[in-house]
Amino acid sequence: MSGLIPADIVESVRQATDIVQLIGEYVRLEKKGKNYVGSCPFHQERDPSFTVSPEKQIFYCFGCGAGGNVFRFLMLSENLSFPEAVHRLAARAGITIPRTGGAVENSAARVQERAWEVNSLARDFYRQYLNRRPEAVHARSYLQKRGVSSQTAEIFQLGYAPPQWDALLHFLASRGCSSREAVSLGLLVAGERGKPYDRFRNRLIFPICDAQGRVAGFGGRVLDNGQPKYLNTPETVVFNKRHLLYGLHLARAAIRELGFAIIMEGYMDVVTAHQHGINNAVASMGTSLTPEQGKLLLRYTNQVVIAYDADAAGEAATGRGLDLLQELGFRIRVVNVPEGKDPDEFIRLHGREGWLELLTGAESLLDYKLNRSFREGGDSATMLARVLPNLAAMPGELEREEGIRRVAARLSLSWEAVKDALKRFQSTGGKKWSNPDKNVKSKHNIIKSSDNARFKAEFILLQILLHQPVLLPDLQREVGPSFPKDAGLREIYQLLCRFGVKGDNPVRWMDELTERGQRMLSQLLLEKTPGSDPVKIMPALVKVIQSDDQQEQKTQLLHDLAEAERKGDKEQVALVLSQLQELVQCRNKGALQKGGMTN
Ligand code: UTP
Ligand code: MN
Repeated sequence: MSGLIPADIVESVRQATDIVQLIGEYVRLEKKGKNYVGSCPFHQERDPSFTVSPEKQIFYCFGCGAGGNVFRFLMLSENLSFPEAVHRLAARAGITIPRTGGAVENSAARVQERAWEVNSLARDFYRQYLNRRPEAVHARSYLQKRGVSSQTAEIFQLGYAPPQWDALLHFLASRGCSSREAVSLGLLVAGERGKPYDRFRNRLIFPICDAQGRVAGFGGRVLDNGQPKYLNTPETVVFNKRHLLYGLHLARAAIRELGFAIIMEGYMDVVTAHQHGINNAVASMGTSLTPEQGKLLLRYTNQVVIAYDADAAGEAATGRGLDLLQELGFRIRVVNVPEGKDPDEFIRLHGREGWLELLTGAESLLDYKLNRSFREGGDSATMLARVLPNLAAMPGELEREEGIRRVAARLSLSWEAVKDALKRFQSTGGKKWSNPDKNVKSKHNIIKSSDNARFKAEFILLQILLHQPVLLPDLQREVGPSFPKDAGLREIYQLLCRFGVKGDNPVRWMDELTERGQRMLSQLLLEKTPGSDPVKIMPALVKVIQSDDQQEQKTQLLHDLAEAERKGDKEQVALVLSQLQELVQCRNKGALQKGGMTN
């Protein structure tokens, strides 16, 4: 998993980083016994169940199951790959990672690194121009006219692109950036006869950053009524509008703190919002919301308020964007910005107080659509059909029941009528995962509960083994090859077997495991072992595994028997019957047998 970075370097980076210190930069941690606890940054919660162990240098959330070491923490919170996380922490610790081969992956990463580097050169050029040059006086007064303070301009790193066709071109050339490179980043346009020129001219520049604050591209606004109003970077190796939310790097802390994000449409909306202390605002940059933007946001919250310009809100709500967001698991509310204004104008007019008041009136997506559908009119079936996707996508049973009630009341339909329509909608593929069929559901629950007992037993057994690897041979004798069934636990068991009775410090295995394996290992190491003497309960746990295995074999044999009977294969029937008998005897014997672990 560690890719091209030598394992000993990864290890020294890990050792040079203190997990409590690192996580402390993201989460307020409090000491509790040996560990530190805080509110999990990876899901919404009231009671802190996020635990960090300074002794083991791992974290685990008992609420959502996220867990791992410093690298996993950074991967999750900064949306990084493993090598990226190692690089980041290496830089922090002052450790140099040798650049070795690995042509393809490395060169792709290098192209991106270079793109961010050149983009930030361009950002600095535009920014200096706005701040220092006398020629930029009209751009500065434009910002002033729109109420943007110089402090806010600095926070958003706003700039100004001069009217010349070659200002940036010369600047980049002086910094060792070829025009070919700048063209590939959309900073220059190739030009008809191969003579490149600056893409952005006489425009106010909004650098567009990714969640980590790296400059991915730019938006440039005319200072008058020219067209197009905004010019944006075309798609490049680091710029894809569908994957970015404007302002996210500045908003993410507030989004986590407040528990929700506000999605606006435009650059200016977000800039003004932040200037007024509304720091959880981001912009979708004019297009309808994409699943990629949704997933990006889901790292910080699953609650959003849509604050679009008056007419655009309606368009967005009837389009696919918001339904997609809801299907990703978001709880969505929609705020109506009155008087045909956009958030920028509204906030400047009514201030933070006015805005917060507006927010309290935000409607749920269902209500918003319901009211809208009602205004659009038609017979009740038509009005109902418009909101069925939203009813179907509601996250909880209770919430859905409540939604059905509201829809029924608003459209003067009976509760049953709405419920039936929803059922039909779901059975015709409206929503696959919310199968209302009771039988399917209860069967599922039964399977789950026996799976649970088995999982619990496997979990505790591995916990015991991690503390006392000398018991490994005893266990290996008793359990079959199906142990452990759980994929995450299996990875850990394989490592246990590899190191044998002498054991190893399991914390060091972290980077060899998949994400699921890492979660499991963190949980195994941080959860208390039950009972005072766990070794005493081992035989009972092994028993759970064995009888689950036998149950499974029996099910398989019964299935084989039915198959043989259907085919009329007498010989096979006899064979399977004898195997079944053997299985039952073996089970009885196991119960009577003295000695071994299963008595
Ligand atoms: P708006 O037209 O609502 O502009 O477009 P705005 O944000 O209110 O800008 P101001 O207040 O007139 O300065 C919303 C967003 O759509 C994208 C931009 O991201 C813009 O902020 N857009 C709009 C473009 O990319 N290109 C355009 O020509 C227009
Ligand atoms: Mn505007």
